[in-house]
This record gives sequence, structure tokens and C-alpha cells, in this order.
Amino acid sequence: MKIVRTAAELRTEGSTGLVPTMGGFHEGHLSLFRSARAENRTVVASLFVNPAQFAPGEDLDRYPRDEKRDATLAEEAGVDVLFAPAAEEIYPDGFQTWVDVEEVGSILEGEYRPGHFRGVATVCLKLFNLVRPARAYFGQKDAQQVAVIKRMVRDLAVPVEIRVCPTIRDEDGLALSSRNAYLSPEERERALALPRALAARDPGALDGLAVDYFEEADFEPRVLAAAVRVGSTRLIDNVVLEGDTE
Ligand code: PAF
Repeated sequence: MKIVRTAAELRTEGSTGLVPTMGGFHEGHLSLFRSARAENRTVVASLFVNPAQFAPGEDLDRYPRDEKRDATLAEEAGVDVLFAPAAEEIYPDGFQTWVDVEEVGSILEGEYRPGHFRGVATVCLKLFNLVRPARAYFGQKDAQQVAVIKRMVRDLAVPVEIRVCPTIRDEDGLALSSRNAYLSPEERERALALPRALAARDPGALDGLAVDYFEEADFEPRVLAAAVRVGSTRLIDNVVLEGDTE
């Protein structure tokens, strides 16, 4: 596997699958890498903790960063190129062009994290332009992110197919997330109320957690989505209400 840091070094051959990530790899990321591996000649994973999608006071500084560990896991999962740019490669001096997916990006997560999806959509479009993938891979765990990216791709006629892979859960039901690393054992136990409440479609089961929202959302597919805070950690999760995860 090659590690590249600049757009100039990013030359790929044949159909390329891109898995955009912020690192802190877990089985959820690995399942995206494996899907991309099965469907493309070249697999590129981007590793960039995107400052533009964090508001002041969020967890940008403590977000897990371990490039060496991530590179080993990516290589084992069949990634050909790890694109790990510096911030200036993505946001050059004088950067001032943003993608705002107005409606889908302003509800639910968008209400609690204003500007978040503007940062996500902008960095994804930039990555699509740099890597020029035939397909890009995202997890259903971030259902609203998927809806935002799909809307952007349709609205701006971006020539990429968005592939969505199912949420991967630990044995206890907690959806895998890089942010689970912040949870103490006691907080993790309390966090299990989130998948249980979603599975039971019962917000009452979230008793004891600080709930930002627990709502149905008309994405494709329709989901029941929730966000909770456990101590200083914010977790999101969802269950699909109809159809499959594609
Ligand atoms: O899901 C993520 O890790 C990020 O939001 C993404 C898609 C890599 C954009 O920074």
C-alpha cells in the first residue's frame, strides 16, 4: 500500500473505489474497504480529520489519530492507496468555496451541529475531484451524511456512484464508531440504551441519557434516527424502517 499526501501523487488506474475516512479505523471502516476491494481495480482510502466539519468546542482535538495503526489495518483490508493530506492540500490559502445542501443538511444533526454538513459535503466533493472515483463508500450508520452526499451528487451531477454499507455493531449492539473510544466502561454500559431504544422503537428506553433527538427521517431508506450524549460523548445511530441499506 502506498501512502500519499498530495493530489499530484494521486494517480490511479482502472475503476477506483474511494472510502473517505477520518481514521480511528474499526470493523465498520474495514467492511467499507472490503466492499470497495470487491468492486474496484484500485481502492483509495482517504485519511483526513476534516476541521471544517467540527464546530468550536467539539472533539476535533481529541479525535483519535494513529496513522501507523490505521495504515496497517487499511493495508490488511486490501487498500491500495492511503491518501493522508495535510490541511493545506484540501483547504489551500484563500479557500472560500463551500457546498451547502440546504434542507437535508439543516435538520436533525444539522440543527445540533450547524455547519457540520457544509464541512462534510465540501470535503467529500473535494475528495471526489482529487481521486475521481467511480464509486465512493459510506456507512449506513451515518444515514443523514449519506442523504446529504447523495443529494449533492444528484444536484451537482458529480460522476460517482454512492455505495452504502450496513452498520456494523459490537456484540452488545452498540454501533461501531471512532467516538466509542471516549466512553468509560460505565458510560459504555449506559450507551447500550441507544441501540436498544432504536430496536424497540421506544424513546422511553433512553431514560437517563441526554437525548438530542429520536425521530423518523425520510431518507432513502426511511430511518428512525437518534443522537444522545453520554457524559461528554455524543453518539448517533439509526435503524432502517423500510427497504434495505442500499
Ligand atoms: O464519516 C466520516 O468519517 C466523515 O464525515 C467523512 C465522510 C470522511 C468526511 O470527512
